[in-house]
Amino acid sequence: MSLFLPDSVKCNGDTFKPLIPRKELEKRIEVLGSQISNDFQDKRPIFIGVLNGAFVFLADLLRSISINCEVDFLKLSSYGDEKVSSGKVTDKKQIDADIEGRHVILVEDIVDTGLSIKYLINKMYEKNPASVSVVTLLHKTDATIYDVKIDYTGFKIPTLFVLGYGLDYAQEGRNLAQIYVIDEKSTIKD
Ligand code: IMP
Ligand code: MG
Repeated sequence: MSLFLPDSVKCNGDTFKPLIPRKELEKRIEVLGSQISNDFQDKRPIFIGVLNGAFVFLADLLRSISINCEVDFLKLSSYGDEKVSSGKVTDKKQIDADIEGRHVILVEDIVDTGLSIKYLINKMYEKNPASVSVVTLLHKTDATIYDVKIDYTGFKIPTLFVLGYGLDYAQEGRNLAQIYVIDEKSTIKD
């Protein structure tokens, strides 16, 4: 398979450079997959992907899961088209599955302030699941202001805007096959 892995990419006028290369993503996701498979043996968890950003990560993570499981999706919107969070969470699509008594694993692309994931954890608990866990590919630890427990983290990253592997900038860049970060040198304007 030929993947889209440029050394530098322009998106909505800003320049981005690689931050987490494809191989690192693959290795880490394999580890997360086997940890989750071990922890949820015989529990038939349901993975709930947070659209749109998490669809690429969920697709790869799921193929590293070696136990019986289910998948569903929900959709939230918090960023709009900006590079900073709007501070508001809007429901755009609900899950179809009945999660009462089930082990739920929320799958996020990135935890930034923690607002979205906190909102989702609370929302899941209202439906009486057996448990709610969170796996996120990326966590901007210094930016997180809401008190949330993340069970599985791919990579802790600094508070910088990132792109690719499902993550977008005003809906562009999701097709990049690794994680890119804004190249501040090239984007400083005088
Ligand atoms: P939070 O609610 O502030 O934690 O923001 C989480 C959501 O904002 C994520 O699910 C992403 O959709 C989006 N987001 C946060 N940081 C970035 C980023 O650096 N690039 C692209 N999207 C981001
Ligand atoms: Mg998201």
